[in-house]
Amino acid sequence: MNLFTLWITTTFCVIVMALIEENPYTKALKMNKQWENIHGYVQVRPGAYMFYWFFYANGTKIDANRKPVIIWIQGGPGFAASGVGNFAEMGPFHMDLTPRNHTWVKGRNVLFLDHPVGTGFSYVTNSSLHAKTDRDMAMDLARAIKVFYRRYKEFRKTPTYLFSQSYGGKLCPRLAYYLHTAIENKSLKLNFKGIGIGGGWVDPRESILVQPKFLYLSGVIDRNLYLSSSRVAKKLAHYIQEEEYFQADIFDDILFRTLNKQGELNFNNVYAPSPYPALDELQDKMNKYIKYTLPEVNATRKWVYLSLPPYNSLKRSFLVPSVSFLEALLNKTKLKIAIYNGNLDVVTPLGGACSWVHKLKWHGAAEFATAKRHHIRGNRNGYYKEMNRLSFWWVFGAGHWIPEENPEAMEHILDYVMAEDVVKPPT
Ligand SMILES: *[C@@H]1O[C@H](CO)[C@@H](O)[C@H](O)[C@H]1NC(C)=O
Ligand SMILES: *[C@@H]1O[C@H](CO)[C@@H](O)[C@H](O)[C@H]1NC(C)=O
Ligand SMILES: *[C@@H]1O[C@H](CO)[C@@H](O)[C@H](O)[C@H]1NC(C)=O
Ligand SMILES: *[C@@H]1O[C@H](CO)[C@@H](O)[C@H](O)[C@H]1NC(C)=O
Ligand SMILES: *[C@@H]1O[C@H](CO)[C@@H](O)[C@H](O)[C@H]1NC(C)=O
Ligand SMILES: *[C@@H]1O[C@H](CO)[C@@H](O)[C@H](O)[C@H]1NC(C)=O
Repeated sequence: MNLFTLWITTTFCVIVMALIEENPYTKALKMNKQWENIHGYVQVRPGAYMFYWFFYANGTKIDANRKPVIIWIQGGPGFAASGVGNFAEMGPFHMDLTPRNHTWVKGRNVLFLDHPVGTGFSYVTNSSLHAKTDRDMAMDLARAIKVFYRRYKEFRKTPTYLFSQSYGGKLCPRLAYYLHTAIENKSLKLNFKGIGIGGGWVDPRESILVQPKFLYLSGVIDRNLYLSSSRVAKKLAHYIQEEEYFQADIFDDILFRTLNKQGELNFNNVYAPSPYPALDELQDKMNKYIKYTLPEVNATRKWVYLSLPPYNSLKRSFLVPSVSFLEALLNKTKLKIAIYNGNLDVVTPLGGACSWVHKLKWHGAAEFATAKRHHIRGNRNGYYKEMNRLSFWWVFGAGHWIPEENPEAMEHILDYVMAEDVVKPPT
């Protein structure tokens, strides 16, 4: 065989193999249950399109509306729920496309929304249309949710919950308040029952003040870096308190650069290696395989796990707290509210979350302060306490991404929040 024939043969084989290679995502779907799902776009404003991806409970449409709906609110801002929440945290498949045992889709419907617009498969036709404030972002989400429940009316009576993470956790009280208002004034039909906030960026000041000390006590930064970063954090906290967000933003960048002098810092989980290599792989899979199973998605659009244009557009909102919305929910609604935080989380250290949750001003605050703690189900998964409709959860062994890092504790939280709403199967 001469070199030329060898070349021809090899090229031919490569082409044939590429043609017969089955999409591994389609294969994973076939090998497991089909996991029935629906997906599409909602135009939330002229030229701004939000992508939704809804997974039916237990992979079937049958009786799906008798099982709760969870609407997942991802963080960033700009992390794409269609990939990050779906494959890295609670969807039916892991990032390597093997089935996830602890998927939330067992017994519950899950709605992923790529938000703010411009994130994941969502898009804007002009960059001037990116959300500029938390208000813009929450209004767009409320609009998408409204349209979703108009398209799928069978879920209007189904108990529905918002669960959120990080920046999504900051947005969640505001969005919940908007939804509540819309339900009250009858512009939205939805059986809205509760919210969950995990690693919530609800009160950035409290989280930032604890970051240097947490890293120091964990042995991750040395004393010099602790002292210098503490000084920056205090300045930053001062500017947030004074609502001087332009200055605060400058010090936020300085704090990030100061702490990163350590190198190899993983803000998601103090002792875990970086999650980004795995997310890079996921990004490849989303673009090579998963995107092509969603016919409405323009194939020329590159999916990235973190979209920077929407992130940058929200820069001025980044440090603005959402405490008052949470207090309003506690004062004025019947929603069940769970705040949970991992003990290995650097972005929102557990001590910071515990601090702001006890500063909330609401009618049950005094009783909440003295409430006794209980064990989270399982072995050494942490503690929780509750008063009226508010609960706070100290989750052990988890960083910023609790659904994936401590699924057993997460399952207890989900069960707890949904407890009153167990819908009995038909007899
Ligand atoms: C998933 O669940 C199955 C059956 O309960 C079990 O055999 C398997 O080890 C579990 N996989 C993981 C990764 O936990
Ligand atoms: C859903 O599936 C899981 C396991 O796949 C099963 O344990 C559970 O009973 C099912 N739930 C419902 C409500 O059918
Ligand atoms: C995008 O929007 C801006 C502001 O409304 C407008 O000035 C610009 O012409 C638009 N660009 C395109 C390509 O439509
Ligand atoms: C009802 O609530 C929606 C959403 O918050 C708001 O846009 C609308 O103006 C409200 N309508 C009335 C009549 O209050
Ligand atoms: C897909 O996006 C490209 C680039 O923005 C655009 O040129 C093309 O018209 C779009 N295709 C469809 C079917 O919308
Ligand atoms: C909630 O109620 C408390 C008193 O119980 C009050 O101090 C606080 O200002 C209220 N907050 C909101 C946003 O309604």
